[in-house]
Amino acid sequence: MCGPDPIDRPYPQAGRERQIFPSPVGWKGTGWQENEKELLARLGPDVVMMMGDNPALPRMPDRPKLLDFFRCRFNDITIRHLLTSGKKALDDGLDEKVVLACLLHDISNGCLVRPDHGYWGAQMIAPYVDEEVAWAVKYHQPLRYFADETVGYPYPTSYDAFFGPDYQAPEYIRRDAEHARNHRWYMTSRLVTKYDIYFFDMDEQIDPEIFTDIIGRHFREPEEGLGLDDTPSSHMWRTMIWPNNFL
Ligand SMILES: [Fe+2]
Ligand SMILES: [Fe+2]
Repeated sequence: MCGPDPIDRPYPQAGRERQIFPSPVGWKGTGWQENEKELLARLGPDVVMMMGDNPALPRMPDRPKLLDFFRCRFNDITIRHLLTSGKKALDDGLDEKVVLACLLHDISNGCLVRPDHGYWGAQMIAPYVDEEVAWAVKYHQPLRYFADETVGYPYPTSYDAFFGPDYQAPEYIRRDAEHARNHRWYMTSRLVTKYDIYFFDMDEQIDPEIFTDIIGRHFREPEEGLGLDDTPSSHMWRTMIWPNNFL
């Protein structure tokens, strides 16, 4: 998905072995054998801990924009899911803010963190979008657990498969869903849940560029590039650019 590679900046830490120690948030409790001590013991003139561009990943442009993260960083299921969700909303003629919220609702799953992804995603995009869009992204997560027959949104069958049919959402999810239900922007977030459907069988290739105009109108791309600017969420975008940084 990542385009041609016109980037000529050199890789950092040249000529050395660059060791990777993955972020604990992704491996705690999985049984993965923690090896930080061993990695640190190997450090020397030719062995360092990785910082900066990882040659195993597609290279990000010098000034990354929103769609560069889709093309160069997001995993396959997430990119397909977000593009499909956004396109369905677009095809149904929904308000552009709703289309953008659909396009971005699982952005955290793409390359940052999965737990509480709606909350993380909302914080990531908050400096760049209308407050209502970030709000809808945050609250799509709790609202997903509760049906609303008036808009044709049932409890997702996928959640029965993911979590087991007897799964009960925790208290904070219930509290936040209740808050969202009584909010003036409820329907914006509810529509995100309605278009939050997995089309695993769909092999239609959606060109991310179909969203360029809507992004241009509703997403404030920083001049320095996402992650290289200075907002309350720049560090989250930087973490996606350099997910293997040791510190
Ligand atoms: Fe989600
Ligand atoms: Fe989703």
